[in-house]
Amino acid sequence: MRAAVTSQRYNLIDFERINQDGRSVIEAAKEYRAEETLLDGRTIVIRAIRPQDRSSLLEISRHLSERSIHSRFLFFKKGLSDKELAYFTEVDFKTHVALLAAIERDGKEVPIGVSRYIVIDAPGEPPCAEPAVVVEDDFQGLGVGTLLLRHLAKIAKDAGVLEFVAYVLSDNREMMELLEHTGLELARNIWADDASEVRIKLA
Ligand SMILES: CC(C)(COP(=O)(O)OP(=O)(O)OC[C@H]1O[C@@H](n2cnc3c(N)ncnc32)[C@H](O)[C@@H]1OP(=O)(O)O)[C@@H](O)C(=O)NCCC(=O)NCCS
Repeated sequence: MRAAVTSQRYNLIDFERINQDGRSVIEAAKEYRAEETLLDGRTIVIRAIRPQDRSSLLEISRHLSERSIHSRFLFFKKGLSDKELAYFTEVDFKTHVALLAAIERDGKEVPIGVSRYIVIDAPGEPPCAEPAVVVEDDFQGLGVGTLLLRHLAKIAKDAGVLEFVAYVLSDNREMMELLEHTGLELARNIWADDASEVRIKLA
């Protein structure tokens, strides 16, 4: 994933914008929480990630197949360093927004997936962000990824992001189906021999 760069262009996104409920878009994203039903009838919670979620991310990463890790990062990597865990959990909900999906088991929250976007500094282009989503292998195919991306898109749209730009490996059928399932307008361009750039219109 590209690193977010501080830039004047971010001024195009009005982070102080006040929502219908009287909160700024950043405050609303920080407190984001929604309940959803999976295709098998189970309930999940989708909520804003917190710095205390480091162990949840480690838990999710331990339940990912090599293929899922490769598809998410576009290369294979083992585990997450302390630095990566801090980066993935201590987000500003401004240029970096992240959501966690969890089910409840025996009264405890069990993390099963994550989605995030990072605002891209792209001169000459409308405000856009790069999204990423990953779901534990045992929970794939139940609608978790679609829901994580839909809620992420809602936050992004409220914040004034007009487009998501995703980089997807050509053999990642699951991600392409997920994107098609969101019902959002997509444009696919070849980006590299084995990957495509998919532009997803939010507005
Ligand atoms: C890509 C990925 C995130 C998809 O997550 P997922 O939770 O399995 O996706 P979903 O369950 O939402 O969608 C998968 C399937 O359910 C279907 N589906 C989802 N919601 C549905 C609904 N409400 N009604 C009917 N079908 C639905 C989708 O069409 C899709 O169909 P398929 O079973 O024929 O493939 C997951 O495979 C993953 O984590 N892969 C590794 C990481 C990765 O590739 N990330 C993308 C690059 S950033």
